[in-house]
Parts: sequence; structure tokens; C-alpha cells
Amino acid sequence: MTAPFLAAARGETPSHTPIWIMRQAGRYLPEYRETRKQAGGFQEMTHTPDLATEVTLQPIRRFGMDAAILFSDIMTPLEGMGIDLRFAPGPVIDNPIRSVADVERLRPLEPEEGVPFVLETCRNLSRELPESVPLIGFAGAPFTLLCYLIEGHGTKSFVQARSFLRSELDATRLLLDKLAHAQALYLEAQARAGARALMIFDSWVGLLDAPTFRALERPAIARILEHLRPLGVPLMYFPNQGGHLHAEVAGLDADVIGVDWRIPLEDADEAMGGEFTLQGNLDPSILMAPPEALLTAADSVLDAGRSLKRGHVFNLGHGIDKSTDPDQVARLVDHVHAAPVRSSEAGA
Ligand code: CP3
Repeated sequence: MTAPFLAAARGETPSHTPIWIMRQAGRYLPEYRETRKQAGGFQEMTHTPDLATEVTLQPIRRFGMDAAILFSDIMTPLEGMGIDLRFAPGPVIDNPIRSVADVERLRPLEPEEGVPFVLETCRNLSRELPESVPLIGFAGAPFTLLCYLIEGHGTKSFVQARSFLRSELDATRLLLDKLAHAQALYLEAQARAGARALMIFDSWVGLLDAPTFRALERPAIARILEHLRPLGVPLMYFPNQGGHLHAEVAGLDADVIGVDWRIPLEDADEAMGGEFTLQGNLDPSILMAPPEALLTAADSVLDAGRSLKRGHVFNLGHGIDKSTDPDQVARLVDHVHAAPVRSSEAGA
């Protein structure tokens, strides 16, 4: 039988609605905090295949999620392109990109040489995981990586990155091009090392208006998807806070689109023409509510999921917060697994 996650991703009817959670391996889990303490920090964990494998498996063991996501970070492959990176707790680059010359100095990524530990983690996981729980490999989208590379750290509005985009258009194009090429090779390497689905996180794309998305980021995403399509694994794109971009996302050659919690799944389906399986979109803060309120909110997402034209993968609308009670996650996963599945006629 096809793994429920893969069935839903391909638009087939799964045996139950699959669920996994963004940041499912993380600080809300006591076993994660313990491993992190032993390792000495987050980056040490991402660089040590045995530890990265262990924390990837922790939420699978505890909750029985329907997919595992590689434990790493969207910034990690940039280490293989000559960027000095640290985490505090978000990514920090002490010498950010500020000129065309800086962009030109970025080295091309050769995944096996640049980030061998990531690929070894994928190989470990593809041995350890059951057939029913596929490994999701992932990368950051070019614009989101550009935001951190230019700003040097996270901010709410990435003003320096957006100023660079407006004043240094040629350097912006070159940077997006180099990043798209590198992430395409990186994702391909993860699939060859055992990842059975690939996801592109575009966490900051919501900062772009539709014409700028169409001109700069959409072609970069399209190029990555085109490179990956022959691999035969489901391709996923998450344009976070990108409700205003959905009409532009329609037509991309992806299988699954992640939807944040601000947009009802039905509206997202309508805007994207029902072409994709949608993944999402429970507001992560609802995990802080009493159990009955949590399960009622989960039912609304499940109902919306059953009305989608192609399929639904249950997830949060963004990463789980570190203050979340793991028992609430257990309740949510059990509830989604017990819920009736969409019939194959749904949306027809
Ligand atoms: O469980 C998983 O989802 C897999 C691992 C994963 C991490 N980061 C681990 C991590 C994934 C898929 C990511 C992606 C990532 N990283 C994104 C895209 C998704 C999103 O959240 O929009 C972004 C923007 C980053 C950059 C990043 N890395 C930030 C902003 C932070 C700080 C987050 C925080 O909670 O404080 C990180 C660090 C990070 N990456 C942690 C984890 C588990 C926390 C590290 C710790 O233990 O200190």
C-alpha cells in the first residue's frame, strides 16, 4: 500500500489523512533538548549524522507522524558555498553580502563535498524509516536565502535585502540564479541519498508584491522544479504568507503547495485552480488552547481538506512553537488519524 503521505501528495486517496508538523523535531520535545545539550548546540547536531538522524526520528517514534523531515536548516548548504554561519538561535552571518563582488565570490555548491553530513543523514534515515513514513528533503527558496544572506540575520521586514533588490537589480538576478542552481543540485543530492519528497521553504516571499514575485522569484522556483521533475518524487513549495501570490503560484510544476493559516484552504484551492494537493494549515497557536478547542479547530481544517479538488496533507500553517505541550501534539495526530478520509469523489 502506498504511504498515506505519498498518496495524498500524488492526488490519490490515502488510507487516512496524513499529518506531519513543520519543526516537528525541535525544542518543544524534552528528548530533543536532551540530545541538543549532549551535542553542545544546534549546528553540532546538524553536522553529526547520528545525532541528526536521532532527532529526525524522535517525533516519528513519539507521535507516529506520516512523514519525517530531515533535521537540518535552510541555511546549512550555504556553508558549502563559502558562507560563515552561526545560529543564535536563528541564523547569523557576520559578513553578509553587500555588493556584486560579494555575490561573485559565492562558490558553486558541490553537495557531496560541501555538505557530506547532510547526505549521510539522508542515507541513514532511508535505512531507519519504515516504508510507510517517507523522508522529506528540503531547501530554502532563493529569495528567502537572499534575505538572510544580505541582512545577515532575521528581521521582520528585511529592509536591507529589499533595498538591495531595488538598487542592485543585476546583482540580485545573479544571486537568485546562483542560489537556484545550488538548491536544485542540493535537493537532487538529497533525493539520490534517500529523500522521497522534496520541499522548498519560501518563508519570506510574502514580502514581495505579485509583479516582483513574477519577475524574480517565480522563475527561480520554476527552474528548481524543472531540474527536479525527472527524479519522480513529489515536489512541494511553501510560499509562507503568500496568499496574495496564489494566482502566480498556479501553473508551477509542483505537486503540493503549503498554505499558511491566514488563508482558508478552500480559498487557496480556488485561487490556484485546484491543481495541487494542499498542505496545512492549522494556526500553531491553537495548540495552546484547551483540548476541545484544539480538536474543533482541527475538524475545521479536516473539513476544508475534504473539499479540496486534489488532496490534503494535514500540517500547521507554520512551525510549531517551542512552548507547545507535546501531549497536545499527540492529541492532534491521533485525532487526524481517526478522522474519516475524503472520498475519491470529493470536489468532483
Ligand atoms: O523539524 C523540522 O522542521 C526540520 C528541521 C528544520 C529546521 N529549520 C531546524 C531548526 C527546518 C525544515 C528548518 C527550516 C528553516 N530554518 C526555515 C524555513 C521554515 C520557516 O520556519 O519558515 C527558516 C526560515 C529557517 C531559519 C531559522 N533557523 C530560524 C529563523 C531559526 C530560529 C528558530 C527558532 O525557533 O528560534 C533557526 C534555527 C532552527 N532551525 C532550530 C531548529 C530546530 C532551533 C534551533 C535550536 O535548537 O536552538
